[in-house]
Amino acid sequence: MSSSILKKNLLKEIDSTVESYLGAFLDPIGDRIRGTFRSLSYKVSSSLEDDIDIDELFAGVETPRVDEKECIIRVTGLSKVFGPQPQKGLKLVKNGMSKQDLRESTGLTLGLYDNSFDVYKGELFVLMGLSGSGKSTLERCLNRLIDPTEGSIKIEGLEITDLERDELIEVRRKKMGMVFQNFALLPHRTVMENVGFGLEIQGEPLDIYTERCQNAIDMVGLKGYEDAYPSGLSGGMKQRVGLARALASDPDILLMDEAFSALDPLIRKDMQDELIQIRKKMGKTIIFVTHDLDEALKLGDRIALMNDGVIVQIGTPAEIVNNPVDDYVNRFVQNVNQERVDELMRKDAKRKADAEKRKKLKEMVKKKQKAAPPMGGA
Ligand SMILES: Nc1ncnc2c1ncn2[C@@H]1O[C@H](COP(=O)(O)OP(=O)(O)OP(=O)(O)O)[C@@H](O)[C@H]1O
Ligand SMILES: [Mg+2]
Repeated sequence: MSSSILKKNLLKEIDSTVESYLGAFLDPIGDRIRGTFRSLSYKVSSSLEDDIDIDELFAGVETPRVDEKECIIRVTGLSKVFGPQPQKGLKLVKNGMSKQDLRESTGLTLGLYDNSFDVYKGELFVLMGLSGSGKSTLERCLNRLIDPTEGSIKIEGLEITDLERDELIEVRRKKMGMVFQNFALLPHRTVMENVGFGLEIQGEPLDIYTERCQNAIDMVGLKGYEDAYPSGLSGGMKQRVGLARALASDPDILLMDEAFSALDPLIRKDMQDELIQIRKKMGKTIIFVTHDLDEALKLGDRIALMNDGVIVQIGTPAEIVNNPVDDYVNRFVQNVNQERVDELMRKDAKRKADAEKRKKLKEMVKKKQKAAPPMGGA
């Protein structure tokens, strides 16, 4: 075989490896993948006709990928009124009635009013606001644990509000995992059995079920506790089980409602760090409800601030602390010190730079694929 054929075959091989990483693993891009790309870069860079240096391109890419062009959740005009004849209540609100007046005159409660937003694939999107502002209601509308009164929820284009019960259960099982504040573990089941609960009722075969559970348990740092019962675990460990249970069915979207709020501060910090690591490895889209500003600033790619059932501002942590839209948002962020603001701005700049680098890599691979001759050509 001539050396030019050998070289082309090698290029093909590199192409398909890069492509498979792009397709399957660029989502959870993190340290591991970066390492893989780095070692690949030595092979690829020697065969490139242009002067793009992949090693330089990927140096320092650490933030999880968020694809701003790929919207995974699109919410439009979402409203919820609790109580009998909610449509009537919604009409009154549309005509200008306040939440308080609605409650006093009709007994109905306005949970959400006319919310529209997109969540991007791979994003950690925080819902924040005072108690009663509608965070849980909004999150629970996404998987229809609460049925909205009006509006549209599309998950990868699928209209969630139109789904029949069976279809909804399927979407909940496969697409969305939920982590609750109070752990919601079954006391008579071991860690392994709790983590596998969802897979078991989905009827997954035992070998797949066991492997997935073990992976999820390892991922949250509970290796060795597979046979323990919840009563023998600390709060932090229980929440790790809750997280592993949500991860075991490998959903695209994780819904987390005050998941760390019941933990003491040090354990809470550990769990936040753990979540950051899990994100880097797994690239899930996460909707994270919290009323804690520090947690929101630390974890969020973007934060939606809610007041009386309405999202009043959406922005990156740096945008929210630098440009609060009103007094309500300002009250949350006014005590953030300058050092933290600077750190958030650096983080923001890094996110943008990493996204740019990923875009360049994609373009470069596309260009190279176009230029490559067909497999086995002379
Ligand atoms: N099942 C329900 N029936 C009647 N009203 C409800 C119901 N669930 C929520 N609400 C009302 O809807 C509004 C939003 O509540 P929600 O639980 O979403 O707030 P939250 O932001 O999650 O608050 P918290 O931080 O306390 O959890 C509140 O006024 C609440 O009283
Ligand atoms: Mg809540």
